[in-house]
Amino acid sequence: MTAEKAGYDHFMLKEIHEQPKAYRDTMLGRISEDGRSVELPELKMTAEQLKGINRVHIVACGTALHAGLVGKNVIESLVRIPVETDVASEYRYRSPIITPDTLVIVVSQSGETADTLAALREAQRCGARVLAITNVVGSSVAREADDVIITLAGPEIAVASTKAYSSQLIAFFLLGLYWAQTVGRKDEAEVANVLAAMQALPEQVEKILAQSEVIKQVAESISHHSSLFFIGRGVDYAVAMEGSLKLKEISYIHSEAYAAGELKHGTLALIEEGTPVIALLTQEDLYEKMLSNIKETKARGADVLGIVNEGREEEVAKSVDRQFAIPRTLPLLTPALSVIPLQLLSYYASLALGHDVDKPRNLAKSVTVE
Ligand code: AGP
Repeated sequence: MTAEKAGYDHFMLKEIHEQPKAYRDTMLGRISEDGRSVELPELKMTAEQLKGINRVHIVACGTALHAGLVGKNVIESLVRIPVETDVASEYRYRSPIITPDTLVIVVSQSGETADTLAALREAQRCGARVLAITNVVGSSVAREADDVIITLAGPEIAVASTKAYSSQLIAFFLLGLYWAQTVGRKDEAEVANVLAAMQALPEQVEKILAQSEVIKQVAESISHHSSLFFIGRGVDYAVAMEGSLKLKEISYIHSEAYAAGELKHGTLALIEEGTPVIALLTQEDLYEKMLSNIKETKARGADVLGIVNEGREEEVAKSVDRQFAIPRTLPLLTPALSVIPLQLLSYYASLALGHDVDKPRNLAKSVTVE
């Protein structure tokens, strides 16, 4: 068992550290040699069929759903077609409006999640084409979907998903760019710019991992609390949801993810002296708005950890108690970096509390029952 963990204490930590490789492997062979276009030869869908799609449903569970929320942002920004995301266990019970030009994207690490599989079948029954993003070749989802993009994260053993989630983000970036290029929404220069930023991500993740100690200290301090908040705006809100789920799953500390502008509509009442708030501030166009939301929590005594872009540290220091800076990338791609400190935070909090990090109570790696 120790050998399989390659010297790491837990599979989760090993898998967190495997993310640079997972990013590289998922991109490998899918970017043209000149770095100016995305190639997805695995898609059976023709360019004409892709051009005919005018709405998307992304359906998944848990962490995979959170990857889907980032995917919504990617597709809507790059392709400019409307995307809905849905919880797989709800999808087939709400008579989703599926037209012949709807593409349903299911996301599943294992490819065996019962609710996701049932949603896939319901979508096909209603006439939709289904594209799957999954980590397991030959899984039920991979076999039944019309098109498949495999994430090359490698086997994920820890119940808490880390490298599968972040590789799903890479898959969405590739799909969004391929789609935007196919329908003429983005030209080669624009695509090349995003691809260059994507290719820098693995090294940027390595840089974050090298600073794990900073996060470990924060994690130890939050582990004494019974409730905390993750806040963000725009795509940072989607990442906040993933950070919150990860923490709940393995540390058993209650937390909530909130769109920062929504706090004042009720939840602010729960912030009191010392309540930890993890605030993501990676979206530059929403930076000032986030600062004012952070001030609202600080005024009630919150203890704020800011996840910020490099270069903002001095300025942000006035508004937060502690901060962690992530390397600069394009706003669209930041989730692939900002999630890393959140994964480390939940790992070290669980460790500090003496829980079984890889096998949290009440949970299974793959949920094959409804
Ligand atoms: C992630 O940390 C969870 N263990 C869980 O939410 C998981 O992502 C969900 O059950 C979906 O699994 P899948 O990706 O294998 O379909």
